Amino acid sequence: MSKTVPETIEQIQEEALNAVASARTPDDLQALSTRYLGRKGAVTRFLRNISSLPPDQRPTAGKEANKVKKALEAVFSETADRLAQNSAKDKTAIDVSLPGRSAVRGTLHPVTLIMRQICDIFSRLGFSVAEGPEIETDYYNFEALNFPRNHPARDMQDTFFVSEDIVLRTHTSPLQVRVMEKQSPPVRVVAPGKVFRCDSDLTHTPMFHQVEGLMVDENISFGDLKGILTVFVHQMFDDQTSIRFRPSFFPFTEPSAEVDIQCVMCRGRGCRVCSDTGWLEVLGSGMVHPAVLENVGYDTHRYTGFAFGMGVERIAMMKYGIDDLRKFFENDIRFLTQFE
Ligand code: DAH
Repeated sequence: MSKTVPETIEQIQEEALNAVASARTPDDLQALSTRYLGRKGAVTRFLRNISSLPPDQRPTAGKEANKVKKALEAVFSETADRLAQNSAKDKTAIDVSLPGRSAVRGTLHPVTLIMRQICDIFSRLGFSVAEGPEIETDYYNFEALNFPRNHPARDMQDTFFVSEDIVLRTHTSPLQVRVMEKQSPPVRVVAPGKVFRCDSDLTHTPMFHQVEGLMVDENISFGDLKGILTVFVHQMFDDQTSIRFRPSFFPFTEPSAEVDIQCVMCRGRGCRVCSDTGWLEVLGSGMVHPAVLENVGYDTHRYTGFAFGMGVERIAMMKYGIDDLRKFFENDIRFLTQFE
């Protein structure tokens, strides 16, 4: 350590003040603080060297040096506050020279996509789109659709009851009745929406989506049903997809048929997905039961019609090759953004 004091405390102070005045960032200031006030800083060194001064100069030099130290400490602290404030301001300022960050584009949910696609196909065939309540009366969900009270067919539906007469609709079929009550034939309508059943396992969720269809007019026959649904399947999948009508039962249709398509996974050769049958069930359908037409006051001698109902998730699974129904409801963004 040098025995002589290389500079006066006034010189150190002046130099330090100039340096602080040109500090631009808190980091600059921190470096200066170390340089002047740190353990090996100029002011500290000066104070330490006082002991090597002639004894009569020591008290004045000590007093001076401590005054400078205090003054510098005050300046450093003020400057630190000012720089911190500035840098906070800088963060909120917009740097217009930065490249833009483009917004992530959202995608529609696969169920929405398929539901729209189904409605589009039927729109082109002259069907309009109707919607109805998810909380439904027993009358529309069952009674008017020819499910008598205590009829065992009600058990097929695993109903959520709100009260004795109010249910969460178990299917979109109530829309058949609601539409026909408001409108006289000809009727051509599809009705998409949520339905609810007290059922939850690998292949069932308590809420899922259906699209209902209804066509009523003079001279509507089972041939029309077959024709329209064949066109639908060919447009939804492709026109090489075979289709078959299998006799079935629903209280509101007579005769009733379930429609199967050739398995989209194995093209009918038989696989795990179709349980080696080569076929997948896509929808329920049938000729509207005269009792249903009577319930809405239609002349059953003049008008006949057909109806159908399909599960949207089911069709989405076939169309996109998805093997787990739960994927639709987990909201995993990586899954959902695959469908454009
Ligand atoms: N509502 C039936 C269900 O959810 C599906 C259905 C079958 C609808 C036949 C129809 C139909 O319109 O004709 O199981």
